[in-house]
Parts: sequence; structure tokens; C-alpha cells
Amino acid sequence: MILPIYTYGQAVLRKEAEDITPDYPGLKELLENMFDTMERADGVGLAAPQIGLPIRVVTIGLDALSEDFPEFKDFNKAYINPVILETSGEEVSMDEGCLSLPGVHEAVKRCSVIKVKYLDENFVEHEEVVEGFLARVMQHEFDHLDGKLFIDHLSTMRKQMIKGKLNTMLKGKARSSYKMKQVKS
Ligand code: NI
Repeated sequence: MILPIYTYGQAVLRKEAEDITPDYPGLKELLENMFDTMERADGVGLAAPQIGLPIRVVTIGLDALSEDFPEFKDFNKAYINPVILETSGEEVSMDEGCLSLPGVHEAVKRCSVIKVKYLDENFVEHEEVVEGFLARVMQHEFDHLDGKLFIDHLSTMRKQMIKGKLNTMLKGKARSSYKMKQVKS
């Protein structure tokens, strides 16, 4: 099922999300819905707060990039209660967007290498060192679980530049090709 994506201005996007336990009701269905919603919106990642749930659940899907990056063929993974244990490598700047901020694309600096710990959809724990694009997507998505958005990383000047777009969202007048739940809609 495709769920509406909560846009900038929705309080849930600014909440500290909660860990979940294996008895979380309907987790399998929730993950299916998150993958469907992410794919329909052409997103590479989706965090549960973006569909209105303040829980620490993220889906990442990178298959669309597999033509250039064969290692991402059929890459569809769920990350539950993820924690970034360490960051290293150099800070790399790259354009990012977010399904909750339609029409906003800005360069964000992030660490190129991270060490993460998370549970998969079967609540099996994994610890991995991740680099490159996936490390960036993870940092972006895991930020959502702490109520943080990619625009929080921008300079005061860049924030000023996108103010008009943010105000449009706060009025519930953003446009996108996917279903949204805007502040006043
Ligand atoms: Ni996002």
C-alpha cells in the first residue's frame, strides 16, 4: 500500500523516534508499505517518521542505481533501531534531496565512512562498515530518526535561499509526483 509522505512542517519529522521491539504490531506489512511508498516516489530511502510514525525504522532501496553501481542490484534493506557507532574518512559534499522536502536539493557534507549497528527485519543484529553512497543515504535516513532533516546541515546563507520553498510547504502548497500529507492538507 502506498502511504502519503509527510512533508516539512509536520511535527513528527522533528520528533526523536523510539526504538521498536520484535512484537511491534504489523511490522512486516509496515515494511512492505514503506518499500512500496519509497519506490513509487522514486526515493532511495524512507524513514518511518516520513509516513507519520515516530519509530526507528528505515528502508533503503538502491536498485535504480544498479546500472552504474552493480553492487546495488536488488538492494532493498530494512534497518531497525540503527546506531552509527563511528564516523571516519573524509567529509564529502554531494547534492541531496528528501521526499519530505519536495523541490529542495542542496549540497550536504557527510563523512565517507561509517560503522553502523542495526537489526534487520528478522531482528538479527548486524554490524557493518559502510562507505560511499550508501553511507550517505544511511546518514540522511538515520538523521530522520533524531528529528533531523538534511537542510539542518546547510549554512545560514543556503537556508535563507530555500526559505521561499519551505514557506510554500508550511502553507501546504508543495507539489510533487507522489501523495503527500502536508501541514494544512
Ligand atoms: Ni529524507
